[in-house]
Amino acid sequence: MNVDEALKARVSIRAFKPDAVSEAQVRDILDVARYAPSGGNLQPWKVIAVAGDARQEVLDIAKANLPGHIGERFIYPADLWEPYRSRRFKVGEDMYALLGVPRDNKMGRLQQFARNYEFFGAPVGLFIVIDERMGYGQWAHLGMFMQSIALAATERGLATCMQEAWATLRTPLKAHFGLEEQEMIYCAIALGYADMSAPVNALRSDRAPVDEIATFKGF
Ligand SMILES: Cc1cc2nc3c(=O)[nH]c(=O)nc-3n(C[C@H](O)[C@H](O)[C@H](O)COP(=O)(O)O)c2cc1C
Repeated sequence: MNVDEALKARVSIRAFKPDAVSEAQVRDILDVARYAPSGGNLQPWKVIAVAGDARQEVLDIAKANLPGHIGERFIYPADLWEPYRSRRFKVGEDMYALLGVPRDNKMGRLQQFARNYEFFGAPVGLFIVIDERMGYGQWAHLGMFMQSIALAATERGLATCMQEAWATLRTPLKAHFGLEEQEMIYCAIALGYADMSAPVNALRSDRAPVDEIATFKGF
């Protein structure tokens, strides 16, 4: 698989097979993802990988603490504006349409959302940790690292879903993992083998064409 193929093949997977992923496989992925670039080569990322009992412990923490609390680092800006508002709306509607859960079935939608806190059945969860003294630049660099993890996983036949949903559980997870005072969990990544028989995994999100996102000058 080349890089272009991996970029297009990586999609968010929201139903996984129970098949185990070994520590060696996770280490192998992180061993290449760590080559992601970061300003000043700060490498402002840390990872906590959970599987087995350690995975079950965080699932239990989720059950005991949901819905949790996002704090002041909101996932989206308030009153999202166009074109972002419509993009967010559409991907959500497309996903629930595949699942056959209409808008007025609030409980059905909530139940699907709650699957986040089971890693959608993935056997491995990766928690991405940053030092909260870092600025927006370093948060962007975290994204490079996370996409590198996703692409490396894709090349190895594994699938991922980024999960900022876990951010609402930052506080109890920080205590659970015994993080240092300034460390915080940004996001999780579910990692495992895709269950392609699950309807939700047929979701393919739109992308704006190049001419909508780029301006070319001086060519
Ligand atoms: C940082 C980040 C956090 C995300 N958090 C969640 C999440 O909590 N739950 C979820 O189902 N999808 C989550 N997503 C997946 C996005 O919805 C998805 O990437 C987007 O709709 C594009 O679809 P694709 O990943 O299939 O290309 C997240 C994506 C990113 C990059």
